[in-house]
Amino acid sequence: MQQMWTDLDAYIDSHLIPEDPILTQTLKHTDERGFPDHLAVAPNQGMLLQMLIQMNSCKRVLELGTFAAYSTMWLARALPNDGYILTIEGRDTHAALAQENIDNAKLPQTIDLRCGRCADILRALPENTEAFDFIFIDADKQSYPEYLELCLDLSHSGTIIVLDNVIRAGDILNPENKKPSIEGIREMFRAMQNHPRILSCTALQTVGSKGHDGFAIALVK
Ligand code: DHB
Ligand code: MG
Repeated sequence: MQQMWTDLDAYIDSHLIPEDPILTQTLKHTDERGFPDHLAVAPNQGMLLQMLIQMNSCKRVLELGTFAAYSTMWLARALPNDGYILTIEGRDTHAALAQENIDNAKLPQTIDLRCGRCADILRALPENTEAFDFIFIDADKQSYPEYLELCLDLSHSGTIIVLDNVIRAGDILNPENKKPSIEGIREMFRAMQNHPRILSCTALQTVGSKGHDGFAIALVK
């Protein structure tokens, strides 16, 4: 099945995803630096993030888990020139690569990349930090429940929170799989259920060039 999913993503991309030299350069530079691309979102998924931001005229974006900043480029594309992205990466090597890609992109938007544990950086933000309009949670899956709560505290009514990789090829259904990352995702589903601060939420399975996975989406009350 994987080959067909990959071919169909290529078909979708060739029809619907415009060539963007910045995105292409980001993937090329990431490859040249010897990093695999499986951690990055697929182009058609990046476009979905872009559209969710555009639909809601978002200006302030928070991203947890920058990796190479490929998804960050998609988030930035959706923003007006005075848009702001705070993106946090836990691994030094990934943050260094991301900063190179951000510098090469020369985007008009402000992209504030910080390296460190997402939860520590979020907790250390100044008390008067303005709420974010759109939040993409894509860092270590083990910490998703904690990230969800911290992000809700940095949200306003109408903020959209998207969480990546919440299906993991069905691993969340396998009771033998007790990996911290999988337990983290299960705990996130339980936390989202009837959460007092969430107006509505869902999760969608995806198949494509990145295999079988999915997004969860929450709209803040
Ligand atoms: C992994 C993490 C991701 O955020 C992703 O999109 C795909 C894979 C991983 O840790 O394996
Ligand atoms: Mg991801």
